[in-house]
Amino acid sequence: MLSLPLLLLLLATSSYSLPVSQDGAQQNVETVWKYLENLGEDMQAKNVDVKEVMDEKLRQMEQSFGLKVTGNSNSETPSAIKTPMCGVPDVTPYSITYNNTQWTKTHLTYSILNYTPHLPRKVVEDAIERAFKVWSDVTPLTFERVFEEEGDIVLSFHQGDHGDLYSFNGSKSHFAHAFPPGPGLGGDVHYDLDETWTNNSDNFNLFYVTAHELGHSLGLSHSKDEEALMFPSYTWNNKDFVLNQDDISKIQALYGPSPNPIQPTDATPDPCSSGLTFDAITTYRGEVIFFKDRFYIRVISFLPKPLINVIDLIWPDLPSKIDAAYEASLVDELRFFKGNKVWAVQEQNVLRGFPTDIHSFFGFPSSVTHIDAAVCEEETGKTYFFVDNMYWRYDENTRSMDPGYPRLIAEDFPGIDDKVDDVFQKEDNFYFFHQSTQHIFNLQTRKIVDAPDSSSWFNC
Ligand SMILES: *[C@@H]1O[C@H](CO)[C@@H](O)[C@H](O)[C@H]1NC(C)=O
Ligand SMILES: *[C@@H]1O[C@H](CO)[C@@H](O)[C@H](O)[C@H]1NC(C)=O
Ligand SMILES: *[C@@H]1O[C@H](CO)[C@@H](O)[C@H](O)[C@H]1NC(C)=O
Ligand SMILES: [Zn+2]
Ligand SMILES: [Zn+2]
Repeated sequence: MLSLPLLLLLLATSSYSLPVSQDGAQQNVETVWKYLENLGEDMQAKNVDVKEVMDEKLRQMEQSFGLKVTGNSNSETPSAIKTPMCGVPDVTPYSITYNNTQWTKTHLTYSILNYTPHLPRKVVEDAIERAFKVWSDVTPLTFERVFEEEGDIVLSFHQGDHGDLYSFNGSKSHFAHAFPPGPGLGGDVHYDLDETWTNNSDNFNLFYVTAHELGHSLGLSHSKDEEALMFPSYTWNNKDFVLNQDDISKIQALYGPSPNPIQPTDATPDPCSSGLTFDAITTYRGEVIFFKDRFYIRVISFLPKPLINVIDLIWPDLPSKIDAAYEASLVDELRFFKGNKVWAVQEQNVLRGFPTDIHSFFGFPSSVTHIDAAVCEEETGKTYFFVDNMYWRYDENTRSMDPGYPRLIAEDFPGIDDKVDDVFQKEDNFYFFHQSTQHIFNLQTRKIVDAPDSSSWFNC
């Protein structure tokens, strides 16, 4: 069995191509077909095996949005696909055949083939230069513009069908695309010549779109993190641009950090700050893992300091800001909760069939719309789910809710306030967290035995 530290090392050396789920059964083809049409593609005319390509695109799209494409019943799908998007590459037949997802050199050249009529040349060049700097600031990569020859990365504006399967038609839903690292088209960025390109908040900001497309040119696929530059929708708000930690971690996993690091400004949690709260806490094979926004803090007994990084690094298929998590040691799974969904995870993989609905999976009534905290009692295989001031008990052996629940938390866990944010078990105790307070509840005596500061876990 691989331990998490080992997994982490393995992951750090592998590329970030998205894992492909086999579960394509329940997708609503119509919804997705519309989505593909919006991308301006006409695959039938191109003689591609439509079904095969569709299946692959469906799987990849699901994962890039972190949701199941289930059709009209899923209200997330339409809004996610309505926003303008970058057209490539996790929804293209090309991505299936591309293997090399990173450049093998750190000095790359680029050339600008032509210009948009909407901006002076100087402004275009400045925007593109700033977009390259976004990535060179956080990696050892350097970029040099060349004039006499084609660069590794060629940036150009095109109209309509321009010979690469990704036609533009002036529609707002597909305005640029880029190819993953490689020779020829590899790394190249194409903009729709018929769009209006700007250097302000009007659509489309050339700097922002270029920075996103260059992420693809360097080997990144789309992110599920809505805050990330690599999220597939165009979300430029003209604020001062700061590269997201999610993007930084992924590009550094490919190329390593910059020799002159610029500190990420993203709010990485400081476990020693007072008043720190957590989204969820769980044990896993003897470790304790704390979750906060899109970060985890792993407390490993043989390490002097906790390990902090983005959740995506170990579990790329999980959302950020989860509600609750627990270890189902009986089946060696971690289970994560957000809203009414549950993800079952083994090592770094989300198991087939997940995420799924907590009502059908555990038998919660429809009035339960989220889980605050969860813990499985090792000795009995009973899982406690805390929701507002009540708790439910679920039997992992019979996979059913115990009768007689919910019950009041305060009645059965005297001293625990009427709400629990996080909980986990160590030896004979449940560790309850509410806001920034911690209560250690002994399961034998049914009493609170201590209330140390939350930071007691982090060797501050
Ligand atoms: C572009 O293609 C989309 C989808 O096929 C279509 O809805 C739209 O009307 C087209 N736009 C133009 C300007 O032809
Ligand atoms: C890509 O990888 C697959 C599986 O690892 C392999 O079968 C295929 O030949 C590779 N393709 C190229 C173009 O290298
Ligand atoms: C484009 O806009 C940015 C601010 O978003 C500004 O810093 C830059 O100077 C502008 N470029 C030109 C050439 O005006
Ligand atoms: Zn993109
Ligand atoms: Zn193109």
